[in-house]
Amino acid sequence: MARADIPLQSQWLPFTPNRSFALDPRVFVAAEGMHFTTHDGRQVLDGISSLWCVGAGHKRREINAAISRQLETLDYATAFQSGNDRSFEAAERIAALAPGNLGKVLFCSSGSEAVDTALKVALAYHRARGQAQRTVFIGRERGYHGVGFGGISVGGIPANRKAFSGALLPRVDHLRFIHDPVKHAYYKGVEPVWDEDLLLELEQRILPLHDPSNVAAVIVEPVAGSAGWYVPPQGYLKRLREICDRHGILLIFDEVITGFGRLGTPFGADYYGVVPDLLTFAKCVTNGVIPLGGVLCRQGVYDAVMDAHRDSPAHQIELFHGYTYSGHPVACAAAVATLDVFRDEDLFACAGRMGQVLGDAAHGALKGLPHVVGLRSFGLAMAVELQSRPGLPGQRAYEVFLDCFKQGVLVRPAGENVVLAPAYVVEPGQIDQMVSTLEQALRKLS
Ligand SMILES: Cc1ncc(COP(=O)(O)O)c(C=O)c1O
Repeated sequence: MARADIPLQSQWLPFTPNRSFALDPRVFVAAEGMHFTTHDGRQVLDGISSLWCVGAGHKRREINAAISRQLETLDYATAFQSGNDRSFEAAERIAALAPGNLGKVLFCSSGSEAVDTALKVALAYHRARGQAQRTVFIGRERGYHGVGFGGISVGGIPANRKAFSGALLPRVDHLRFIHDPVKHAYYKGVEPVWDEDLLLELEQRILPLHDPSNVAAVIVEPVAGSAGWYVPPQGYLKRLREICDRHGILLIFDEVITGFGRLGTPFGADYYGVVPDLLTFAKCVTNGVIPLGGVLCRQGVYDAVMDAHRDSPAHQIELFHGYTYSGHPVACAAAVATLDVFRDEDLFACAGRMGQVLGDAAHGALKGLPHVVGLRSFGLAMAVELQSRPGLPGQRAYEVFLDCFKQGVLVRPAGENVVLAPAYVVEPGQIDQMVSTLEQALRKLS
């Protein structure tokens, strides 16, 4: 397809510099396995599993076939006051995979909706237990929790909040970020060990300031993804769990990226051996093929909301929340088929193994290159951090992204970081191609 044949004028692209994109568009027209085909007929290696979604690789026939079968059976059904067989099946499969007693799934269609749903469930839970004053949420600096008003309020990426700062949730605080660029600029497959206790701040400043009895929930990503793949200090999440328990505060893990295999385990919660009260997911649950998100809720959270209504009339709805597409049967069919593929091909274990290959390759090739000030690999993802160009934050990473794309590899710029997060089916040779393309682009930087 020639550039002139692409009708560029009507679409406003998300999280994209639209003006420069229009001058040099990147348009995908097909995908298979690890590769895209672009509008001008080039092959591009997908180094980021299409924004952490396509764990099993593109165009999986098993998933597409399940979608086709579902379309021929039940295309769509309203989710309110009824259900569909596929959504119950998907919920059961997801709950069975989850650790601990995360036994109830509330479906939605995206990570942003999942986060806002989780925040609302937290409020509903406390209200149901007679603690309606618990309305303070605690997120973390540079956390990413989608783009809903709840998500950007607990989120901590300044650029995502700036234009909307007058309309954020009123009672939100943030934990300190989990990175030490001096002592822990580089790590490979291990959690950084800090001398300092990062969570003292929560115990000694944030909780006393708000009073713990007013705090509804703490929300964190087990590994900070969108900020540029930052791993919390060893023991951090366990200690966070203990602090939350001590004060009756719910712990929410936003596992939109870490859920379904990225760390080599079903969820980040499994990797860390810490079970949250609420766990959000999206992306890989359908291999990215059809939008689906959700919140796994601890059984006790659900029970508390139900118990509060034990004397209500039978027609009384317990939680006034839901989406037209909650538990869409086609998305749920895709989820069931995706979970089958993950299981049958043991893809979470593959992700763990390929993560080591990626870490070795990246550290071998990129450490010490000009402008590189950090390199972090963990699970099947890595980020190389660049020195900011004075007055032009993020520009170097963006230039690397453009250059890699021209050379046939899709990488992700995230602030000053360039991220690789391939599908779990990636082969070692493809990892070499990604890393060497990135290396060449980094060597060209001014
Ligand atoms: C941790 C986390 N939460 C929420 C979201 C938002 O998901 P979505 O873009 O599907 O709304 C993302 C997206 O990358 C994410 O990484």
